[in-house]
Amino acid sequence: MILASGRGTTLQAVLRDERLGPLVVAAGSDVPGCAALDRAREAGVPTFAVALPDQPDRATWNAALADAIAGYRPDLVVLAGFMRVLAPQVVTRFRIVNTHPSLLPAFPGAHAIRDALAAGATRTGVTVHWVDEGVDTGPVIAQAEVGIERGDTEESLRERVQSVEKPLYLAAIRQLCEESLP
Ligand code: GAR
Repeated sequence: MILASGRGTTLQAVLRDERLGPLVVAAGSDVPGCAALDRAREAGVPTFAVALPDQPDRATWNAALADAIAGYRPDLVVLAGFMRVLAPQVVTRFRIVNTHPSLLPAFPGAHAIRDALAAGATRTGVTVHWVDEGVDTGPVIAQAEVGIERGDTEESLRERVQSVEKPLYLAAIRQLCEESLP
């Protein structure tokens, strides 16, 4: 199962992986009209959305999202640009893995690439990690470094980070699936 909120290029990479694609039971989102869900539908993957503004409060949203996830009985929940923090009762109910575009614990949060540039950092990277109740704080599974070049913009750096991120994430997910599946 994949959860995504945005463009969905990471979701697409998972779906196109010949080992992982067939294992994806569904794709979910908090943004009903996002491109990621379109990509999943085009690939023939069942989709669902649970939007925060449609729910009376955050606790109800977390419960509704968890119930939607549980309906597919996933072995692993793969966050692929899912941009909301999940409540403790969600992160303890499922095995959830995330990829984040920085060398955590540096630059957690929703704007990691912009924050690294704004801080004048000379290197950043990617972290694949288990999801706990914090913001990008769970145990690290894998990391890879990406140098920041003079003249980098948010777009150029994002492109380089994502070109490192996708193979790192796919390899980590494959490894997790091999450990947990017969
Ligand atoms: C990815 O780079 C991922 O690391 C990041 O969102 C991007 C999604 O791109 N996630 C976070 O920042 C989570 N804190 P995509 O929509 O093209 O797959």
